[in-house]
Amino acid sequence: MCGIVGAVAERNVVEILLEGLKRLEYRGYDSAGVALLQPSGELTRIRRTGKVQELADAVAEDSALGSTGIAHTRWATHGGVTERNAHPHCSSERISVVHNGIIENYLALREALTQQGYTFTSDTDTETIAHTVHAEMQKGKSLLAAVQNSVKQFHGAYGTVVMDSEDPSRVVVARSGSPLVIGLGLGENFIASDQMALLPVTRRFIFLEEGDVAEITRREVSVYDANGEPVKREVIESNIEHDAGDKGGCRHYMLKEIHEQPTVVRNALQNRLGESGLVADIFGAGADDILSKVKHVQIIACGTSYHAGMTARYWLEQYANVSCNVEIASEFRYRKSVVHQNSLLVTISQSGETADTLAALRLAKEVGYMASLTICNVPGSSLVRESDLAFMTRAGAEIGVASTKAFTTQLTAFLMLTLAVGKYNGLSEADSSSIVKALHSLPAKLEETLAITQGIEDLAEEFADKNHSLFLGRGDQYPIAMEGALKLKEISYIHAEAYASGELKHGPLALIDDEMPVIVVAPNNELLEKLKSNVEEVRARGGIMYVFADRDARFASDDTMRVINVPHCEAPIAPIVYTLPLQLLSYYVALIKGTDVDQPRNLAKSVTVE
Ligand code: M6R
Repeated sequence: MCGIVGAVAERNVVEILLEGLKRLEYRGYDSAGVALLQPSGELTRIRRTGKVQELADAVAEDSALGSTGIAHTRWATHGGVTERNAHPHCSSERISVVHNGIIENYLALREALTQQGYTFTSDTDTETIAHTVHAEMQKGKSLLAAVQNSVKQFHGAYGTVVMDSEDPSRVVVARSGSPLVIGLGLGENFIASDQMALLPVTRRFIFLEEGDVAEITRREVSVYDANGEPVKREVIESNIEHDAGDKGGCRHYMLKEIHEQPTVVRNALQNRLGESGLVADIFGAGADDILSKVKHVQIIACGTSYHAGMTARYWLEQYANVSCNVEIASEFRYRKSVVHQNSLLVTISQSGETADTLAALRLAKEVGYMASLTICNVPGSSLVRESDLAFMTRAGAEIGVASTKAFTTQLTAFLMLTLAVGKYNGLSEADSSSIVKALHSLPAKLEETLAITQGIEDLAEEFADKNHSLFLGRGDQYPIAMEGALKLKEISYIHAEAYASGELKHGPLALIDDEMPVIVVAPNNELLEKLKSNVEEVRARGGIMYVFADRDARFASDDTMRVINVPHCEAPIAPIVYTLPLQLLSYYVALIKGTDVDQPRNLAKSVTVE
């Protein structure tokens, strides 16, 4: 989704801003822009629809310079994808603004500002910020006070950076609902919506809190809380790799990230899983004390993270003997739900900034959950800071919009949570040692599974001209079928549905014909014979099937069925292992179709608006 980069320096900041925008490209956007101020106060604004490179070319052609600047990648919400709607937006050639989020009362503000004589040149909600701040400055206020007064008038979410042509020595930033991080340099300071953007220039960050407004000059950063009181926010040293944005020789980030899974899963387990069980308090200081009281788990997430939660429900109920509900965050946050006794709220998120998940966490805190835990990949993110307990998945930066390694590390985390909660709820000795043994074998199993790539490349050829597909699974493989379908639709734009295969005869069987490939996930587990019956139901109706099966599951390829053997693995880790071939299938289908694998159309990596 939208990205922000800003800088206040002595040197020319053009390259810093453009590099920052490039490093945020993975989040998804449709236009980009930059506003630059020279020490004399000369303002240059350049905006383009399309890729950041088109903006960079325009900036080079213009020989634009500036020692203070703000830049933005826009993912359209209010107003179409046009240059006039791209950020930055300006008021009276004086105030320039970039903004992530949505100003929900923008229509009312727009009407009031128009009556005051302001002319709008875009269809965006963001332009109301520029004019509101300008109107406040006309009352004789400083930029800081003008922004502080302005934000009181906004309803909705914003991460915004404001620049004044009459004072190039500073920018003022405000955060509510959309993340902002200040990067601390030597004699220069920076601002961004994501630390990734600033890694080439600094590793020292201040993560702004909800309601914070900050004034940033070359030498000083002053932060004020929602009440306008000066506050000290912790400076955090980032250990994210500077070159995390490198494709490592792969054609796409997604492929690189798929192949990183054995390594990142190993990292996720390191120093957490001992020979015979978990190390103490791996879910945070004092976590075991909280986990010992858990009698119910409520999981909240979106998209791929929701599928991780769906899988976890099978594990928590089967092995850990605690009841578990899983819900999509955008549903949970807008309905009244019953809070069970001693219920742990678990949010899952790759980014830690998903607006709906964050809102659900905030709601849950008000309605009496015992404690909250987030399973997250981004240290310092909003979910991590606002949860009682945090478990970092250590997947490393995930750049491809389609989540891959973040998902498998989330599942790994959930197996560990199953051990931790199960310990106090009658997890059997046999199940405990089976999960521990399976987890130890997992990185090697994933390596073995990735070695079957070639067969999947060939298979993808047969999919590329199809418009629809059906994914089937049972038990803890049903959410994996859902995840496989999401991956395929997300990056290849082929319509894909997932069903628990027992549901076939209740409707979807009507869809089966030889134009509708059916993908089946078939590990050798207690539901195999049931699954085989469902496979026969498809075969009897002329369906063409692609079965990812354990070699001992005794499926044989024939005219109507193509079998791809997946290495045999222990039952608890089968959902993680079977995820990989489905990721590869989507990747190769997308490759053949020539879609934008890493930045699929209309999607964003970090969904910071609801
Ligand atoms: O950052 P989160 O894990 O909270 O994001 C949730 C979804 O937006 C995300 O998983 C999305 O579905 C992915 N693009 C799927 O590949």
